[in-house]
Amino acid sequence: MKKTLFFVAAALSSVVAIAEKVELSTQHTSLVLELNANRHPEFRYYGSKLSATDLKSLDWNGDDNWSHLNVYPAYGANVMQNEACLAIRHADGNLSTDMLVQSFDVTSVSDKAPNGADRHGKLLTVALADNVYPVSAKLFYLAYDDVDIIECWTEITNQDTKKKNNVITLTQFYNPILPIHRDNVWVSHCHGSWASEGQLTEEPLNNGQLIIKNKDGMRNATSDRNDVLFSLDGRPQEGHGACIGASLCYSGNYRVSIDTDESDYHYYMSGINPDNSEYHLKKGETFTTPHTALTFTENGTNGVSQSFHRWARKYQLRHADQERMILLNSWEGVYFDINQQGMDQMMHDIASMGGELFVMDDGWFGDKYPRAVDNSSLGDWVVDTRKLPDGIEGLLRDAKKNGVKFGIWIEPEMANTVSELYEAHPDWIVKAPQRDPVLGRGGTQVVLDLSNPAVQDFVFSITDNLLSKYPEIAYIKWDANAPLMNHGSQYLPMADQSHLFIAIHEGIIKVCQRIREKYPDVVIQACASGGGRVNYGLLPYFDEFWVSDNTDGLQRIRMQWGTSYFYPAIAMASHISAVPNHAVFRTTSLKYRCDVAMSGRLGMEIQPKNMTDAEKALCRQAISDYKKVRPVIQFGDLYRLHSPYAGDDLASLMYVSEDKKQAVFFWYKLETYKNQHLPIVKMQGLDPDRVYTVCELNRIDNKPLDCEGKQYTGAYLMQHGLEMPYRHIVEYNQQNDWSSRVIWLK
Ligand code: DGJ
Repeated sequence: MKKTLFFVAAALSSVVAIAEKVELSTQHTSLVLELNANRHPEFRYYGSKLSATDLKSLDWNGDDNWSHLNVYPAYGANVMQNEACLAIRHADGNLSTDMLVQSFDVTSVSDKAPNGADRHGKLLTVALADNVYPVSAKLFYLAYDDVDIIECWTEITNQDTKKKNNVITLTQFYNPILPIHRDNVWVSHCHGSWASEGQLTEEPLNNGQLIIKNKDGMRNATSDRNDVLFSLDGRPQEGHGACIGASLCYSGNYRVSIDTDESDYHYYMSGINPDNSEYHLKKGETFTTPHTALTFTENGTNGVSQSFHRWARKYQLRHADQERMILLNSWEGVYFDINQQGMDQMMHDIASMGGELFVMDDGWFGDKYPRAVDNSSLGDWVVDTRKLPDGIEGLLRDAKKNGVKFGIWIEPEMANTVSELYEAHPDWIVKAPQRDPVLGRGGTQVVLDLSNPAVQDFVFSITDNLLSKYPEIAYIKWDANAPLMNHGSQYLPMADQSHLFIAIHEGIIKVCQRIREKYPDVVIQACASGGGRVNYGLLPYFDEFWVSDNTDGLQRIRMQWGTSYFYPAIAMASHISAVPNHAVFRTTSLKYRCDVAMSGRLGMEIQPKNMTDAEKALCRQAISDYKKVRPVIQFGDLYRLHSPYAGDDLASLMYVSEDKKQAVFFWYKLETYKNQHLPIVKMQGLDPDRVYTVCELNRIDNKPLDCEGKQYTGAYLMQHGLEMPYRHIVEYNQQNDWSSRVIWLK
């Protein structure tokens, strides 16, 4: 039975409501739902932008209120086939819910994106309610005007008005389902572990269920990342083929499921991981889920990346329109061995190589318990004056003297049981009731309970104290090196212990919001034992992330490649480090390490005083060359050209400026042996009619490339490409088995 109780949207240029078919569109994509009163909200279409004719004729061959295409199935009322987005234990114990459409509207929105940027779009709101129990839900779909991204999320409200027995328990709370028609659909996503984050996995979608999840509690991107890319026309291809990209903007435990049942569809669903997280919703209270960002493109996997990168640069990352500083971070250079003279020397050295910022990493703090290694002092954010007698003032003085900016490392959400903080506030840590805390790094690390507002104030005060006292601090590296190893809050009531995972992430976001309100300008890096916080839940408060503690040139190519599926180069901190590499003990050439680091946000992670003059000169050249092309790499469009996962000893990618006047081409040989044959890499994204001049950057060869200084049309470079010699022509005693090129096309 259809009712016509609808509020149909006023005609808006990019939103058309025809009968009950509702289209929401971006510049190049359309999403269509069918919304009928007292029926389930149903999926009809997500793909390239529909013409009015096609939208009008769009139909499907089903006509059943228990359709597989219900985008918001709730558990308990005929959801045998679909996974449920929503599951509720009602106050009387009933486990069934059925969410039916009440109304919808489409409005224009002009508001602030999470990173503070002004954004404009159209918002479809679908109001749903259960017709037996007093619970309602709203589905939101936000289509951006200028990027091909649609975000969706939900609000679930307990509408009960009774005085007693009015709390309902949410046991599942996913975002609306996106059905994807079965064909030869493949899924690409990143898997990893500490020091091996962002490893690309590509597999065909078969019958059954693919679950990607995280339960770390604090660092949700160290292992599997939640971002998934669907290639709808068979094996993933970079430049062509229909693809959907989906990313859950959340920093806590998540669960992504791709369910394939006997119907014609795969069902993509993402949201907060409900494991041990049932949520008690009081009367009048609303539970809001994190957003899932979606894109569709006909331009293959690279098209998905470009959409996400544009959206990230405009609406997700802080200061994404500003060039990033080239920095030296002290960690791999001195680890905990911080002292005034050493920091001064490192500042001097990075300045002499052309760097712009020095960041002092772990080891600078602790009074009663000095931070000598990793087993004490987190929480005691006072300068260790035995190491730094002149304090932060002295460091800022030296930074000024050396002509670089100064940044500092903190790990604010953590404590050690060996700390003055823990002695004063043992009740501030996460631990199971009645049990001793389970201890992490160094045998003493614990996580602070950010569900507690007093703890939120403390965590905010760490940044606030530093930045209010020392406004010259230009950069903060915000680290987090422990999972939630215990389940228990000393703040939350016993009845709400299951709120812990969710409440901690709400707490972190509240702290981040306070910091950004007061300190909009400071640059902040999200680090979590390396790449543990590569997600769009936290990134709106940060400028960039540390990709991994593994800085080995070769493995970084693979990690940065996988990471680039959803995250842009401007956000990827990529540092030149020493050899043998501290994580894998491989010895790559310095030229190779520079060329890999130059494909992201370039920095250094090394003790310069251990470098030879020749090594320093090479880094000086890399930094100077990087400055010439920094805007192209940081703001340009990425084209992945030859995958390091292809297994044929080569990787290549390039960035092209928006106006296509300049490009930077990266070429890396991954393996060396005699009688080796590598393909010529064809470039992409150039203007075919434009003439480009070749200029090799960071050159070490005694003689220029044959193509150096020559001119080629974009058409030639894209149809044929440039031949790269397999080896560098250098003195015999400098020969090695690493080979890489950076080519500037201008
Ligand atoms: C883990 C980070 O990933 C490293 O870069 C470094 O900051 C250490 N923590 C310091 O303890």
